[in-house]
Amino acid sequence: MKNELDDVLKILVSEEELDGITTRIAAQIDEDYGASEYRVLLVAILKGSVVFLGDLMRKIKTPIEIDFMKVSSYGGGTKSTGNVNIHLDLQRADIADCEIILVEDIVDSGRTLSHLVEYLKLKGARSVRTCTLLDKPSRRDVDFKANYVGREIPDEFVIGYGLDFDEKYRALPFVGVLKPEAYEK
Ligand code: PRP
Repeated sequence: MKNELDDVLKILVSEEELDGITTRIAAQIDEDYGASEYRVLLVAILKGSVVFLGDLMRKIKTPIEIDFMKVSSYGGGTKSTGNVNIHLDLQRADIADCEIILVEDIVDSGRTLSHLVEYLKLKGARSVRTCTLLDKPSRRDVDFKANYVGREIPDEFVIGYGLDFDEKYRALPFVGVLKPEAYEK
């Protein structure tokens, strides 16, 4: 039987550390939104963020709602917000009542989240903040800083806990670094 663990060079963020990260960020969100009079809406960006969302949402005590968007970004644009295609948009009539927290697995160039923050504000959201499990600040193309960050990481090829290579490895319970031979073959 194939075993995805064979393709892992090393564990970068362990299950224990991931548990600590989701506990910390959930507490921060409770502190910031616990008194909100509006709908607190976690919007996860498919697909990589689903595992993080699942763990995070179960630790947040504030009543929250969830929704999903699917987007793809491409480089080369001159606009600071980058170029982002929206494949699945929010279908809500009550966006003006929503305090949105965008949930991502990783921020790389920063194009996806910087664009979505502007997009959702233009659509009339009450407020928009961003939350990412992983942050690669060395890869930024646009000036962007997430409000909640699990951990900064170096520019390595990471997989697991939702993150993929060629749609594989998403179900691994930790964030690991992929062996070069796994993506060069
Ligand atoms: C990844 C990640 C973010 C985006 C970050 O998604 O989940 O959405 O890229 O990159 P940026 O900061 O350079 O915009 P990906 O396109 O790999 O899709 P997936 O989550 O479905 O795997």
